[in-house]
Amino acid sequence: EKGGYPDFMLKEIHEQPRVIRDTLAGRLVDGRLVIDELDLSPEELTLIDRVYVIACGTSLHAGLVAKQLIEGWARIPCEVEAASEFRYRNALITPTTLVVAVSQSGETADTLAAIRDARVRGARVFGITNVVGSPVAREADGVIYTKANKEIAVASTKSFLGQIVSLTLLALLLAQVKGNLRQNQIHLLYKQLASTAEQVECILQDTSRIQQAAQRCYQASSALFIGRGMGCVIAREGALKLKEISYLHAEAYPAGEMKHGPIALIEDGFPVIAVATHGPIYDKVMSNIQESKARGACVIALAEQGDEEIQKYADEVIYIPPVQDCFSAITASVPLQLLAREIALLKHCDVDQPRNLAKSVTVE
Ligand code: F6R
Repeated sequence: EKGGYPDFMLKEIHEQPRVIRDTLAGRLVDGRLVIDELDLSPEELTLIDRVYVIACGTSLHAGLVAKQLIEGWARIPCEVEAASEFRYRNALITPTTLVVAVSQSGETADTLAAIRDARVRGARVFGITNVVGSPVAREADGVIYTKANKEIAVASTKSFLGQIVSLTLLALLLAQVKGNLRQNQIHLLYKQLASTAEQVECILQDTSRIQQAAQRCYQASSALFIGRGMGCVIAREGALKLKEISYLHAEAYPAGEMKHGPIALIEDGFPVIAVATHGPIYDKVMSNIQESKARGACVIALAEQGDEEIQKYADEVIYIPPVQDCFSAITASVPLQLLAREIALLKHCDVDQPRNLAKSVTVE
C-alpha cells in the first residue's frame, strides 16, 4: 500500500503534483473562476469585508498563505488565528465576516468549536477539508474539498498543498467578485497556479542537494528557519515539519527580526535555513543571510535556479524552479518537507508515526 515507497510520508509527498491538478480541476469555466460549493450569491460575497482563517498546526500555516493572497488580491482584511485562541476570545464578527475553517481531518476539536462559535455570532463559515462528510464539512455553510485523498503519515504534506491551492482559488474568487483583478489576470494566475504541478514534479526528481543539506544539520540541537513575506510562512511550515518528525528543535522567524533577538543564537555551525526565493524583498533576505554567515552559521539556502550569487553566502543551496512569489509556498514547501524527512531518517525516527502525535486531534 506504500506503492513502492519506503514510507507513507514520501509516497504522499510524491502525490502532490496530482493533488494540485485534482484540486484545480473544473474550477475555470469560460474564463471565470467557479466555486459552486460556497453557497453564497455574488452579492453576498461582494459584501464580505473581513476574513478570519481559523485552523491548527500545518492547516494554520496554509491560512497564513491565504492572508497574503486575500489581502493582496481581494484587498479584504484577513486575520489568521489558531482555532484554540479564536474560540476563547471575542473576535470581531459581523454578518459580513467570512470565517474560513481549514482542517485536513475535518474533526479537530478546536476548529469545530471555533466554527460553532462563529456561526452563533452570525458569521458565514466556509470549511476547507479533505474528508467528505466530516464534521467540519457538515457544520460549515459551504465546503471546498481538497483532493488530497487519505493522508496516512501523521505529518501533513499533501493535504497542506491541497489546502493552499483551495485557499488560492478562494482568494482569486474574492478578487473576482470584488472586481480587483481583471478576468485576464485571473486567467493568467490560474494558469501559473496550475503549472506549479510541473514545478513540484521537477523538485521531486533530484533530491541530492536536500540529502547533503540534511547531512550538515542532523546533529545540531536546534535550527532556525528564516524568510520574509511568503518566505516567512514557508519557513514556519518548514520548522514545524522538522521538529515534529525529527525532534530537532526548530524555530521560524521573520528574517528582519533576527537583529531583535534570535541572532544571539548563532555560533559556529548553527544551522540557518533561509528561504531566498525571488520575492519583492529578496535583497533584504540576502543581507540577513550574510549577517548569519558572518557569525558562523551553517546556511542552507532555498533559492531559485539561476541564482549563482547565493552560493557565496550559503553552505548548501537547494534549488527550485523560478516561481511567482504568490505561488512560492506551493513549491518551496516541498524541499522543506523532504529535508525534514531526510533529517528524521538520519536520526532513525519513524517518519510516519512521530512520538506523542495523533493524526487527528479530537480532544481539546
Ligand atoms: C502537522 C500536522 C498538524 C495538523 C493539525 C491540524 O504536520 O499534521 O499540525 O495540521 O493537527 O489538523 P487538521 O488539519 O486535521 O485540523
